[in-house]
Amino acid sequence: MKPKSSIVNLPVYQPGKPIEEVKKEFGLSDVVKLASNENPYGSSPRVKDAILAELDNISIYPDGSSASLTSALADRLGVDSKQIIFGCGSDEIIALITRAFFVSGDETIMADQTFSVYKSNADIEGAISIEVPLKDGTHDLDAMLAATTDRTKIIWICNPNNPTGTIVSEQALIAFLDAVPSHIMVVLDEAYCEFVTDNTFPNSLNILSKYSNLVILRTFSKIYGLASLRIGYGVGHPEVIKLINQVREPFNTSRIGQAAAKVALEDQDYVKYCREHNTQGISYLEGEFDRIGLEYFPAHGNFILVNVGKPGLEVFQGLLQLGVIVRAGFQHYPEYIRVSIGSKEQNVVFINTLEQVLQVKSAQV
Ligand SMILES: Cc1ncc(COP(=O)(O)O)c(C=O)c1O
Repeated sequence: MKPKSSIVNLPVYQPGKPIEEVKKEFGLSDVVKLASNENPYGSSPRVKDAILAELDNISIYPDGSSASLTSALADRLGVDSKQIIFGCGSDEIIALITRAFFVSGDETIMADQTFSVYKSNADIEGAISIEVPLKDGTHDLDAMLAATTDRTKIIWICNPNNPTGTIVSEQALIAFLDAVPSHIMVVLDEAYCEFVTDNTFPNSLNILSKYSNLVILRTFSKIYGLASLRIGYGVGHPEVIKLINQVREPFNTSRIGQAAAKVALEDQDYVKYCREHNTQGISYLEGEFDRIGLEYFPAHGNFILVNVGKPGLEVFQGLLQLGVIVRAGFQHYPEYIRVSIGSKEQNVVFINTLEQVLQVKSAQV
């Protein structure tokens, strides 16, 4: 059997290590996972009832168009239902966009350290990824614009950027969108936008009507705490959304995912609670890094990229053995680890364990 040549050397995506695996490997009873930017508080308490109510219907296919959820989301976002598409996580929307738009030899532009799924999907479709270096951990929009050619199809902007956590301001984004030719799609991945408190952060939905080439990606996996139910969405011009819909599988989101997302969306008090606790968690971790003397990028999502001053993979391994899972191995940041903002207790465990691993204080976890 001969696979398509574009996938032969494609690495398999490496997710954060699962808790159960780490417990078993190191014989630990308590493990703190701060590796996948999940919500440490779980989801809205209303979600459980919505899921239970949906259990009676699990033998019936879901509504492939997610009509009820789409209508609720359209009302909340102030857009038309035709501007929204749901996916099996925003991961799937990324895949659908590449499937709908790329042909072999197209070029696509992204930051050189950003969410890896843009490049892996571009690779699958035979598109050529032009990776533009970040500037101080932030998207260098001028350089990304300068990298466009006649073959550029899509530009990806991850805001806040995973893994650096930095943001592109509204002013910078608008200047960029004004300069990008309208036949090039700009995908603005806002998976972490609900955590952001910085007032220079773009209100992308407000500017969407001005740019028919702009597609915004968001998800219920992060602040809404529904990562395992796999539900994310894209918002854009109706014509673009229609094209993406044409390559969508018939039943790509589940009944349970749709029902949970609908009630989670209604519970904006819970979203506020999570945002406030996340902000407190960022302050705590940044304060502790300052005390220990570690540099970090200013965090705007629910994670921080911190310079541990030695190979990040070594520190990752040291933390793992003591029951704390983080992420490391970022090509352009070999001495950094990325840690998700946990609950207050998890953050304290992380800092104590990190100090032990870095041997900046005697063992006392
Ligand atoms: C920047 C970014 N975009 C998209 C996703 C995908 O999220 P999901 O597929 O769970 O919606 C993630 C997940 O970590 C992410 O970090």
